[in-house]
Amino acid sequence: MSDQLTMQRTAMRIGPQGDFGVVVEGFDPTSTDDVREVKRAVYRERIALVKGVELEPRQLLALAGAFGTPVPYYEPIYHHPDLPEVFVSSNIDSGPQRIGVPKTGKFWHSDYQFMPRPFDLTFIQPKVVPTRDRGTYFIDLARAHDELDPALRRAVAGTTATHSVRRYFKIRPDDVYRPIHEVLDEIDARTPPVTLPTIHAHPHTGREVVYISEGFTTTITEPDGTERPDLLRELFAATGQLDDTFEHPAIRLQTFEAGDLLIWDNRSLIHRALHTTTPEPAVSHRVTVFDDAGIPA
Ligand SMILES: [Fe+2]
Repeated sequence: MSDQLTMQRTAMRIGPQGDFGVVVEGFDPTSTDDVREVKRAVYRERIALVKGVELEPRQLLALAGAFGTPVPYYEPIYHHPDLPEVFVSSNIDSGPQRIGVPKTGKFWHSDYQFMPRPFDLTFIQPKVVPTRDRGTYFIDLARAHDELDPALRRAVAGTTATHSVRRYFKIRPDDVYRPIHEVLDEIDARTPPVTLPTIHAHPHTGREVVYISEGFTTTITEPDGTERPDLLRELFAATGQLDDTFEHPAIRLQTFEAGDLLIWDNRSLIHRALHTTTPEPAVSHRVTVFDDAGIPA
């Protein structure tokens, strides 16, 4: 019977999603072949929209674990109550029993870009999906690198970029009534700014990526220590991050529906949540992993 079922299973299909990423159909989360092929596709095309995969938190964690080593977010307020590696975004307020954090990621960023080792891959499973205005904006920083004006690309080569969580750190329920300087000192002690090359070569594809985000990148510095706020501004503008209309040609809106799973290469893309002023209930589960490479320092 099981052989028959295996025979009947539709083979996985991976096809382009317009000019951004791939769509995967017929994916079997328990198949090592399927995992290997999707992983390759994510490295090559940066993002995969996997259709028809509804996973419980434990299953999502197991699947992500087949791609790399899941890493819990450093702030426990985001953790799923039973599985710290599962990060919960939720705008459903159930009072003191609330699970997850609302309004996450409403600014351009890459996950953990402010840490010495940013996450390599991100997995998102939407659980409660709004009927409209749903999706996540993305910018492909590999494509952005290739499309930079050559003079700007030359000016940026060899510089470093410094990233900090300071501007977007979320005040936690326990921070209420604490003096703000105490909170800021704690942020600086736990997550001091990190410095990475402004342009890195992706460890799996060799493609160069201009790894900056308006949410976390604070400074571009020349090898001799000179800070270049002008270059940072130019890079933000050139990569579409200053466009509040989201009509810049570099910006893609990735939509999804119930039963979809998004997997993206966090070393190559930045993203920004789409939140509206009158939001419908929305919940998503996220797992982030380190694979065998990271970002070259
Ligand atoms: Fe994010």
